[in-house]
Amino acid sequence: MNQSIGIIGLAVMGRSLALNIADHGYKVAGYNRSYSVTEEMLKTYPHENFTGYEKLEDFVASLEKPRKILLMVKAGKPVDLLIEQLLPMLDKDDIVMDGGNSFYEDTIRREAYLKEKGVVYFGIGISGGEEGARKGPSMMPSGNKKAYEHIRPILESISAKAYDEKPCCAYIGENGAGHFVKMVHNGIEYADMQMIAEVYLLLKHIGGCSNEEMSNIFKQWNQGDLESFLIGITSDILKEKDDMGEGDLIDKIKDCSGQKGTGRWTSIEALKEGVDISMITASCNARVLSNHPQRSEMQSTYASICEQVKVENKKAFIEQVRQGMYAAKIIAYAQGFDLLQQASKTYEWNLQLGNIASIFRAGCIIQAKFLDDITKAYEEEVSHLLLHDFFKKHIKETHQALRRIVVLAISNGIPVPSLSNALAYLDMLSQPKMGASLIQAQRDYFGAHTYERIDQEGSFHHEWRK
Ligand code: 6PG
Repeated sequence: MNQSIGIIGLAVMGRSLALNIADHGYKVAGYNRSYSVTEEMLKTYPHENFTGYEKLEDFVASLEKPRKILLMVKAGKPVDLLIEQLLPMLDKDDIVMDGGNSFYEDTIRREAYLKEKGVVYFGIGISGGEEGARKGPSMMPSGNKKAYEHIRPILESISAKAYDEKPCCAYIGENGAGHFVKMVHNGIEYADMQMIAEVYLLLKHIGGCSNEEMSNIFKQWNQGDLESFLIGITSDILKEKDDMGEGDLIDKIKDCSGQKGTGRWTSIEALKEGVDISMITASCNARVLSNHPQRSEMQSTYASICEQVKVENKKAFIEQVRQGMYAAKIIAYAQGFDLLQQASKTYEWNLQLGNIASIFRAGCIIQAKFLDDITKAYEEEVSHLLLHDFFKKHIKETHQALRRIVVLAISNGIPVPSLSNALAYLDMLSQPKMGASLIQAQRDYFGAHTYERIDQEGSFHHEWRK
């Protein structure tokens, strides 16, 4: 009965978190459904603060009370099955935490179910991949606020620390709030990755840049406004040599991207909430299209519809791409945070967007220098990121560059769905007319749905001449 915390699921993420917690002086108990995984971990990564258990009963019995158990298993059914298995062994006030990428509605349901049984349930969004889990992830816990104090010291100690030493872990809200925030984090991750992929195509086909040149460009960009984890790894990726043949590895990787679904969940939730996160949705669609079964047939049918022309002033073009991407990056994060703001109202989570931006500053996949400015903006309670002075200034400086690179891409047949959606979002919100008046007229014409007028209050129906 002296283990501080128990972890169930010792695959890469669970193992890395267990070792991270053990490094911080906590006694960690580990359990995995197949004991061979536990044995392998004990052999390969022995740690004085980590003990592996073969039987779930012994694992549970080893924990000090209130017990703290972190589930690091595959999202979905396995979490429910494990909860049922654990329940008879738990006591009142024990704490079960789910650190996987669970769907937030499942977390809401599980929290309510366990509350009835006297057990405390936390959904914890965890970002940072294997390295983050081992050395310091960004963590998004949600559940009962009072009970949070029992787990707070452990979570804060193992989380990443931003440059100002603040832990990248903060209480997010009740029930499913943490997993919702993690879901939106992943949505932003999709948009961030997609726009980098589009920029890569622009630099390669219009800029005529080699992989090595692009690696250097990304490296340089990572020292300025665009500084972020994903820009940094892109520089590394582009210079990597193929260890199974000649040349660069990037040129040997099949052009089809996978997904586990969190970006798609984000898009579906945004549609339900009535929030435009077009860049995230475009990024999901791009992954889907990359796997379209008729892609190669389309390619052979239409390959020659557009000729690509290299730019003359390469240096100026690269700078334009940098600026355009900065504008799009601001818009991607603005869209994601807009969804958080709306969901906070719907679910009464009282999300502190400043805090959330602050814990994204290190440890997670979307960590970026400008999250410091996003933190400040939401601490000042800005209603929309694009209306904060700092971002207003940068969007005003860079939107023309975004427009130019999108035009160039379109006229050269280079697909830029996320960059073009960024521009459309800005144009729609900033122009006095979106065309919505004509849509209202059409709705009234065929369905008497009524319209509002610019010169009088109220709803009107017109008898259209047919
Ligand atoms: C993180 C990542 C992590 C994982 C994604 C990948 O924050 O550490 O988001 O959770 O890499 O789930 O998602 P896809 O497989 O859908 O790209």
